[in-house]
Amino acid sequence: MSKNISNLSGRIGLKKNLFEKISERSLNSKDASGIQEIANEYHMGVSTIHGAESFYEFLRPSHRAKKAFVCNGSACMCSGTQEPLKKKLKEKLGDDKVGEMFCLGHCYENKAFHYDGENYAGNDIDKIDEIIKGEKIEQEKFFSKSFASTSFLMDDKLSNLDQFKDVLNKFINTDKQEIIKSLLDSNLTGRGGAGFPAGMKWDFCRKAESEKKYVICNADEGDSGAFSDRYLLEDQPLKVLFGMIICGYVIGSNEGVLYIRGEYPKSIEAINGCINSLKKEGLLGENILGTNFSFDLNICIGQGAYICGEETALIASIEGRRAEVDVRPPFPVTEGLYKKPTVVNNVETLAAATGILINGADKFSAIGNKKSAGTKLVCFDSFFNNPGVYEVEMGTPMKKVLNDIGGGFKEPIKALQIGGPLGGVIPISEVEKLNLDFQEFTAAGFMLGHASIVSIPKDFPMVDYIHHLFEFTAEESCGKCFPGRLGSYRGKEMFDQAKNKTAKIPLKLLNELLVTMKKGCLCALCGAIPTPIMNILKYFGDEMKDDMVKDN
Ligand SMILES: Cc1cc2nc3c(=O)[nH]c(=O)nc-3n(C[C@H](O)[C@H](O)[C@H](O)COP(=O)(O)O)c2cc1C
Ligand code: SF4
Repeated sequence: MSKNISNLSGRIGLKKNLFEKISERSLNSKDASGIQEIANEYHMGVSTIHGAESFYEFLRPSHRAKKAFVCNGSACMCSGTQEPLKKKLKEKLGDDKVGEMFCLGHCYENKAFHYDGENYAGNDIDKIDEIIKGEKIEQEKFFSKSFASTSFLMDDKLSNLDQFKDVLNKFINTDKQEIIKSLLDSNLTGRGGAGFPAGMKWDFCRKAESEKKYVICNADEGDSGAFSDRYLLEDQPLKVLFGMIICGYVIGSNEGVLYIRGEYPKSIEAINGCINSLKKEGLLGENILGTNFSFDLNICIGQGAYICGEETALIASIEGRRAEVDVRPPFPVTEGLYKKPTVVNNVETLAAATGILINGADKFSAIGNKKSAGTKLVCFDSFFNNPGVYEVEMGTPMKKVLNDIGGGFKEPIKALQIGGPLGGVIPISEVEKLNLDFQEFTAAGFMLGHASIVSIPKDFPMVDYIHHLFEFTAEESCGKCFPGRLGSYRGKEMFDQAKNKTAKIPLKLLNELLVTMKKGCLCALCGAIPTPIMNILKYFGDEMKDDMVKDN
């Protein structure tokens, strides 16, 4: 059935893709008008279109009835800024006009909210009257700096179209095998979480036989604490787009798409502007720079579903299916978008591939070790003295990362959640024993992931933190597998009761639930959430002993 929908959707393709049509209809209409027309155009049943539309938070009538959305990501929650912010917005707009959104990527300043298609944070709330009147206000930018001996992600070697033209001209006239070899030699692994070698992924897709292939940039960065992809999309868009174009050249694709989350309006604007400039200069489109290589880029705007960061759900989303996770294999490199071979890469992976081609694979592989090589963007939240996004060499001791680069903390912090809501929760004493290294983090029972850091203050109750994690999973689970669908809700219910002091948490039952989710879930959303919860039980169990009951 889903294969059939993929093929039908693929007949019309990316240019006016089904997801975009479904989104546009829903956002511009108060009733069901237009659904039948879309179904007819794509030769699908109305229920298929309705099923896809009802999956997304932003397309629900209840969401569309609201005017402002307060960020309920982990960093904003820990900062304690959101309740007063919500109160102020409700006073201005009305009680029923203020909703929530999961992480707007302003973790370095908090007080984040979304109003009328724009994000605001920090002291912006003081100018709420101007914002409501539609006036443009001056906003603070995040701080960014590279601490690497060679910068691959933050340098200015690809900051204008002349530089872009020169580098593109060089590499679309370079042997494809040579480019793959550079990526393999660099030891670049995917920065989106799974850590698959980028060169191998491109090579598999290159070897797949098909008249049509796709390149997808996964810009659905939804992890709370992370704004590194946002930095690259807004401040280094040419590096990201170059990575996509050169990937298209290597694998034999003439079309790519950036799936950018709707919570990042400035990123969408920056990439859109950049694509238009490249098209005007003939650096995208037919027969680029007089060669027989043609490549075009599209943007797909996410509609508020965290699971769309998972690559198979992302592909389902673009195809206009419900964004549920698919069983792998087949992997996207053989059967991806519209069932055609597809490379799905994270924003940072693509920008790093560009940096490697410009600076040399040897320089990248010389940093860190074979499995954790090169440089990585690390994000610090507002509890750090130096909040912002930094390029750091892999292998750097975490003590140095936190204290020298991050500048230490403004107030006492008991633990860090590193790598988003699915990453480990690490006591400060444990994190200082580690280096910035994917394998070291995993071996110690944590996860480096996207290297975003959320600080948990000393007085923040861990029962509330686990409740937040289960609530997030219950809200965002795609519903495909039942250990995920049911387990996340059962966990949330247990912690609802503990939080409200109506019942204690049955420890044995909780452990059984966590093991079931870890072993039985189809993907890492509900399957990895036990990691931070088990970390908290292990290191902060004492703090929660009054909320627990032993149930044999
Ligand atoms: C629940 C979940 C959420 C994910 N979110 C993202 C994301 O926001 N961005 C991303 O690049 N990868 C995300 N991934 C990983 C992707 O499935 C995929 O591995 C990645 O995009 C591949 O690119 P890479 O090889 O460059 O890392 C997520 C995975 C899971 C299970
Ligand atoms: S683990 Fe959760 S998000 Fe993943 S497939 Fe199962 S229900 Fe969906």
